[in-house]
Amino acid sequence: MNACTAIAHANIALIKYWGKRDASLNLPAVGSISLTLEGLTTTTRVEFLPGAGDDVLTLNGAPAAEGARLRASRFLSRIRALTGTNDRAVVHSTNDFPTGAGLASSASAFAALALAGSRAAGLDLSSRALGILARQGSGSAPRSLFGGFVEMHRGSRADGDDAYAEPLLAPDVWPLTVLVAVTSEHEKATGSTSGMSSSAATSPYHQAWIDQQPSDLAAMREAIASRDFARVGELTEASCFKMHADMLATRPALLYWKPATIAAIDAVRDLRASGVPAYVTIDAGPQVKVLTLPFHAERVREHLQHVPGVLRVLTTGLGGAARVLP
Ligand code: DP6
Repeated sequence: MNACTAIAHANIALIKYWGKRDASLNLPAVGSISLTLEGLTTTTRVEFLPGAGDDVLTLNGAPAAEGARLRASRFLSRIRALTGTNDRAVVHSTNDFPTGAGLASSASAFAALALAGSRAAGLDLSSRALGILARQGSGSAPRSLFGGFVEMHRGSRADGDDAYAEPLLAPDVWPLTVLVAVTSEHEKATGSTSGMSSSAATSPYHQAWIDQQPSDLAAMREAIASRDFARVGELTEASCFKMHADMLATRPALLYWKPATIAAIDAVRDLRASGVPAYVTIDAGPQVKVLTLPFHAERVREHLQHVPGVLRVLTTGLGGAARVLP
């Protein structure tokens, strides 16, 4: 069998990843902790065909842009290097959410590609080895290999063999709801990879961000272990705004927010003042993700839907691990 289809869910970081310690191996400068989301998925089929030649990539049924095709092709070459073959690949990938607009599509994309690609190539990698492979596609991708709460390790080895992800808590152990307030469907102006390298080169706050991460990770691990939702929420918002401060201090500034992004942040603060436990997090894009307890999800959705500039609101629970489809 030289073909395989895999599905992976998107994830959102509660303690954010921003910065690399090695660009060529894509080693993160910081660890991170995330939630895997049930509703947002990427399904990818990889088939290796005998003989060299250009790899083919379609995204949502249409030929992918050349940049995306080359990024996938470089990644597939890492799989080819593991098997010692030169076969070309045909890849069909579909997302059930907007691509490139801050919904972490590269995470589910490279998790699905790592799983489908390695299996199609005849490899049966351990979850650690799969994480190390997926990380070379995108630093947030190893987190999408697992369900529920997941930690991505920064590692310290130069070869990256200790930079992989591990599950912290299964999705059914502590059900939470995430609402995504979509404020724009457009591709973001600066991708995470180049944004991170600009922050490292120019932001005076970047080193402080890196230095504080171990204590933020430890605090989040403890809050998750004790199921302290208010503490998880407070740490999530703090990590998000600290990362955006680093982005804003980058030159030229990385400003990913739209007016509706700020309006949605305000709306969540108002909700919280009225006693609803809800907390925001925002990635390298304008969407606002809101973390709440399932009991309050409908109230939060209703409130977000009325925020000016919010186009639509997605509601999702926590998702499971990436898996191969029959
Ligand atoms: C802001 O994983 O997309 O979403 O490793 O360069 O592919 P690369 O970056 P990527 O970065 C995600 C950054 C973030 C925060 C996070 O998800 O932790």
